[in-house]
Formats: sequence, structure tokens, C-alpha cells
Amino acid sequence: MSTSKPAVMQWIDRRLPVTSAYEKHMSKYYAPKNLNWWYVFGLLAMLMLVNQILTGIWLTMIYVPSTAEAFHAVEAGMRDLAGGSGWIIRYMHSTGASFFFIVVYLHMFRGIMYGSYQKPRELIWVFGMFVYLAMMAEGFMGYVLPWGQMSYWGAQVIISLFGAIPVIGDGLTEWIRGDFLISGITLNRFFALHVIAVPLVLVLLVVLHVLALHEVGSNNPDGIDIKKHMDDKGRPLDGIPFHPYFTIGKLPMIIIFLFVFCGVLFFFPEGGGYFLEHANFEAANPLKTPEHIAPTWYYGAFYSILRAVPDKLLGVVAMGAAIALLFILPWLDRSPVRSWRYKGWYSKIAVILFALSFIALSALGGMEADVKNTWLARFFAVIYFAFFLLMPFYTRWESTKPVPERVPE
Ligand code: HEM
Repeated sequence: MSTSKPAVMQWIDRRLPVTSAYEKHMSKYYAPKNLNWWYVFGLLAMLMLVNQILTGIWLTMIYVPSTAEAFHAVEAGMRDLAGGSGWIIRYMHSTGASFFFIVVYLHMFRGIMYGSYQKPRELIWVFGMFVYLAMMAEGFMGYVLPWGQMSYWGAQVIISLFGAIPVIGDGLTEWIRGDFLISGITLNRFFALHVIAVPLVLVLLVVLHVLALHEVGSNNPDGIDIKKHMDDKGRPLDGIPFHPYFTIGKLPMIIIFLFVFCGVLFFFPEGGGYFLEHANFEAANPLKTPEHIAPTWYYGAFYSILRAVPDKLLGVVAMGAAIALLFILPWLDRSPVRSWRYKGWYSKIAVILFALSFIALSALGGMEADVKNTWLARFFAVIYFAFFLLMPFYTRWESTKPVPERVPE
């Protein structure tokens, strides 16, 4: 460590390793020099996490967790808070949730394309999956808080799913609700979980996710192991310091993202009913079921799989399996290479079909479950499951291209 540091920094460093932590994770963290724009989404996910936490703090200042007041507190907050600009805080949070999921889905897809979950990065992926689960729980409970029609009826549908579990189902749903039906007690506990418990877990998981990443180092679009070729100081020859190269290099993408986010916030905040459903601008009414109950788009794929199976219990099992398969992805892929750039045609086609099926299932989740849509959901669910279940075979059988030893210039 350099001794030319200001005295105060030296004093702090002797008590808390600030400089060495900064060096380990920023200025001396060597990232592969061939990282492309797909690698911005981790940083954007962090940005959105901070956005959710900050705007959430302000929303909590105006929110009242009671069935009589919640809806009006949010609506009044949008109009009255901060001289009439409370709406931007609310939309930064509610539309922000959708953007958080968009960014994380692209981040996960990047991992799938480049095989970033493969050895030695399995734990990064598994922590990521726990992050994803925590995000789903957080989004669900947050949606209940404004106590609109879809908050109430969405919660009704989702909580009743637990009732499908044999023997303990009924007791479990009652335990989750804290009451015989969804009530102020449910709202209160969802408030506590949404505002403090789950965000704490989420932040902790993100820290573990990044620590695990920095232990083994970043993958890259070619899946080349840059630690194989080091210089005499033990630095990867194909790596460059994360700061300042990537921090500055990613700035244009971050600015473009913020422009898009602001554009949607200002001109299209409910995203045509996808980010905030129209029924949620109406206060919850337990006596009036909305015509069409649909989850927010980011749960659509799993909801479609649930509805594609005629039996409720088997539907819940299929939905659970669809998520569980993502968890064990690192052990399903038997390819000797990481990136799809060097995998065979089977893998390339499988990844494209998987992405298409996920998009189709997400869209179908928001549509009516008529006969046509149910069969379409079944068709795409089969592709979704085939991607995972056949992976151990097609990744082993196909011929791959040789991966270059060094990052191509
Ligand atoms: C709050 C959500 C998340 C945050 C803040 C986050 C943050 C990050 C950051 C900053 C990186 C390094 C930069 C990059 O590679 O883009 C990263 C890498 C990674 N993340 Fe995440 N992540 C999140 C969710 C997830 C999820 C849900 C998954 C998958 C299940 C995942 C899987 C990965 C993998 C495999 C890498 C290593 C990529 C590579 O080296 O090629 N992350 N994450």
C-alpha cells in the first residue's frame, strides 16, 4: 500500500481496510478486456436496487398500512407530496420495479448466452437465483400495498395457490394471511416484509453475489479463462482494471438507460397496463372481482405454466419446477466450452427457443386463459422444460469450436 496517502486515510486504513477493499474490488480488480455491452446490466441492476430503496423510503413517509387508508394515502401522495410532484416518486418505484426486472432478465440471459454459470461461477449463479426469488417476493408484496383492486385480487389468487398443497395447504394459507381472509393483518405484515425484511435479505444476497464474482473473476463473451495467462506481477494479461476503464466505459450505456427510464416515467408510466394495471387505480373491493385477474408481466411466464396444467396441485409443482430448473442450470450444462459462440448449433437454437418461449409465456400470462391461449401456453411450456431437461444431452453430444487461448485483439 502506498505511503503517499493523506494522513487521515492512513489512520483509517490502520483501523479499517478501506484502501485495500477499494483496490481489491475496483482499481485492482482485473476484468477481461473483451467485456461487451451485455455486461452493463449488473451495474444497472445495482442502480435500480438503489432507486427502489431510496424511492421506497420516501413512499413509506406517506404510506399508511391500513385497509381504510392505504389506497388514498398513495393517491394523495402522488398529488400532494413534494409540491405536487409525488407522482414521480411513486412511478420511479412502481415503474422502477418493472425496469429492475427487465434489467435482471437481460442480465440472466447474458449469463445463459455466455455460460457464466459454469464452473467456477456456480455460486454466483445460485446467489443470483436467490436474489431473483427475493425480488419476486418483494414485487408481489409491494403490489399489495396500494390496496387497489388488483392488489387485493392478485394476492387472493397467489396466496390461494398454497392451498393446493395437500394436508397443510389450508393451514398454510391462513398462516400467510394471518387471518381467515386477506385483511388489514395481511396488509400490515406485507408492509413489514416489503419495507424491511426482504430488502435486507436482498442487499445481503447482492453483496454475496458480487463477493463470489470477485473471488473467481468475471467471465467474458468468449468464455476464455483470463487467469491462465498472467504477467510477472500476477495480473491477467487479458484483463484491465475495472476502475477507471469499465466505470467510465459503461457511462454511455447508463446514460442511455436513464433516458429511456425517464422517457417511460414521464410519458408512459403505467406501460399500457403492463407496469401498473388499470384496475389498480380503483380501491380494493372484496365484493367485486375484476373481470380479468392477471399478474404483473414479470411473473407472467410462471403464471402461464401454472395455468397450462389442468390440476391445481400439479400446476403449482410445474411452476416450482420451472424455477428450480433455473437454480440447477450450472449442473445441467455439460459442454466443455462456456460461451454459445463456441458451442454447437443445438445449444444456439436451444437458447433462442428458450428466450422465445419465455417471452411468449410472459405475454400469455397477462391474457385470458381461453382454449387457444391454454394450448399455446402448453406448447411453449414444453419448449421451456425441454431446454433444461435435454441440456445434459445436447451439450455433450454436439461438437464445439476450439476456444482461443487469449482474448482476440
Ligand atoms: C439485484 C439483482 C442483481 C444485481 C445487483 C447483480 C449484480 C451483478 C454485478 C454488478 C455483476 C458484475 C457485472 C456484470 O457481470 O454484469 C454480476 C455478475 C453476474 N450475475 Fe448478477 N446481479 C443481480 C442478479 C442476478 C441474477 C438474478 C442472476 C442469475 C440468476 C445473476 C447472475 C450473474 C452471473 C452469472 C454473473 C457473472 C457474469 C459473468 O462474469 O459473465 N445476477 N451481477
